[in-house]
Amino acid sequence: MAQIKEDYKQLIGLANEARRHAYAPYSNYTVGAALRTKTGRVYAGVNVENAAYPTGICAERVAVFKAVSEGERDFEVIAVVTDNGGSPCGACRQVLSEFGLDTVVLIADGNGKLSMETTVGNLLPEAFLPHDVKK
Ligand code: THU
Repeated sequence: MAQIKEDYKQLIGLANEARRHAYAPYSNYTVGAALRTKTGRVYAGVNVENAAYPTGICAERVAVFKAVSEGERDFEVIAVVTDNGGSPCGACRQVLSEFGLDTVVLIADGNGKLSMETTVGNLLPEAFLPHDVKK
């Protein structure tokens, strides 16, 4: 297997640690994300579920919204960790695509094992982008 960069390992570790704060009493599927901006800041996110199921939110979007709400829009890499190395959902791919197709996406399992290293653009081909709506 290809060598995984040390800083990527650290980011995966942060995403995995963040999972402790996930609020997932309905699915019991905890997700942690760690988003690093080009300025070097890291924003963690977890899934937050709700008794009214559809109002819950995924870990990746929490991380993105935390970053954007603090003035950060230029992302370098996001690590997403679940027990089984599950892949980001379509809504999260769309939200990530708004801020760049080149953002690296690291998908790992609860042991920190990388299951995929890819980009937002690869995960969401033919994305609907800002220029599609701005005339
Ligand atoms: N979930 C995420 O946090 N990210 C994803 O990309 C996929 C799904 C969450 C939503 C829900 O709380 C739980 O995982 C099960 O779907």
